[in-house]
Amino acid sequence: MSRPESSLSIALVGPGRVGRSLLERLQAHAPETWQLMAVADSTRLRRGPIERSEWAQPFADEAFQPRASDRDWQDELLRRDGIPVLIDASASAEVADAHADCLARGIHVVTANKLAMACPSSDWERLRAASERSMYGISATVGAGLPVLDSLRELRRAGEPVRRIRGVLSGSLSALSEGLSVGRRASEVLETLRRDGLTEPDPRTDLGGLDVARKLVILAREAGLDLSLDALVVDSLVPEELAALSLDSFLRSGAVLDRHVAQCVDRAPGSGRHLAYVAELEVDGRACVGLRRLDDGDSLAQLSGQGNRIEVTTECYAAAPLSIEGPGAGLEVTALALWRDLVRISESVRRCR
Ligand SMILES: NC(=O)c1ccc[n+]([C@@H]2O[C@H](COP(=O)([O-])OP(=O)(O)OC[C@H]3O[C@@H](n4cnc5c(N)ncnc54)[C@H](OP(=O)(O)O)[C@@H]3O)[C@@H](O)[C@H]2O)c1
Repeated sequence: MSRPESSLSIALVGPGRVGRSLLERLQAHAPETWQLMAVADSTRLRRGPIERSEWAQPFADEAFQPRASDRDWQDELLRRDGIPVLIDASASAEVADAHADCLARGIHVVTANKLAMACPSSDWERLRAASERSMYGISATVGAGLPVLDSLRELRRAGEPVRRIRGVLSGSLSALSEGLSVGRRASEVLETLRRDGLTEPDPRTDLGGLDVARKLVILAREAGLDLSLDALVVDSLVPEELAALSLDSFLRSGAVLDRHVAQCVDRAPGSGRHLAYVAELEVDGRACVGLRRLDDGDSLAQLSGQGNRIEVTTECYAAAPLSIEGPGAGLEVTALALWRDLVRISESVRRCR
């Protein structure tokens, strides 16, 4: 018997911290018509349909196989009656590279992984074209799901050009800046953030500014502006001697990190007493991310904890920018953003049929 048209056939790649949080939500709240057809991490693959009672722990009973080709389960998704969806909750370049192919083949993609959307300009046109064939859910990639990408998309559709984007785009760097402002050591703040699942799998991706730079590229592209990573000026908080170490060695090098970050704080542009890692993009393409000293009156200086704030200046929003603020990291809010994109796909595809 064929399933109702809003049924989803889901494959989830990357059942790590964010992925598991989403699997728990799916197990508890997904409509009966949604099926989990595959779960894969870097080495293992569990093929479905998987019993709902096992969704939150898909590898628990050892009913998995070594991960080889993804093509097989992608073909299986396409053969089924449900709407095929790939969820990418990894931080892997290999998985990101598959987004354009999946979208072009008719598999909708929902992602927390920023690598595809922040790809080099040479790959961007292919991804953009593929995302017109299938739905591409990217809400979780910036601001852990704050409704900023939707707002930029709507401004673009309405023909309202974006002139400037400025903001604090990283929950972990927001919390780090706040800690540094009150004299805490970088390594100490980082350890707490890592324990709470609020950093990237390798926290140097946060500290080096690359994660924020990728988010700025995604915001720019969603606003219809041309920006790629190599055009961005990125101020890194990672000392050169720690950049190439293994993750474990880096995590054991707290004293070196603390000394370097203290120097970055001393050198940070600005004269205010608030520290923030700020992203800025002008319509002429000038773009930078880095640590800044902000005055008391600066709207970005009011943030606390993992707060993010994104300010968008357009012709209509010239005197006062459109501002969106809220938590910018966290497993549950990120999983909720992925969930919202899944619901959106389910509803839109049903409406179109
Ligand atoms: N944490 C947050 O607050 C937050 C917020 C917004 C977005 N995100 C994004 O969410 C994603 C996941 O973050 P996380 O904190 O959940 O990371 P994580 O705990 O390290 O989980 C990553 C998962 O991806 C899997 N993986 C790695 N390489 C893979 C590959 N080549 N093929 C398939 N699976 C692979 C890992 O499997 P193995 O164990 O086998 O390596 C693991 O299951 C990242 O892209 C991150 O930027 C996170």
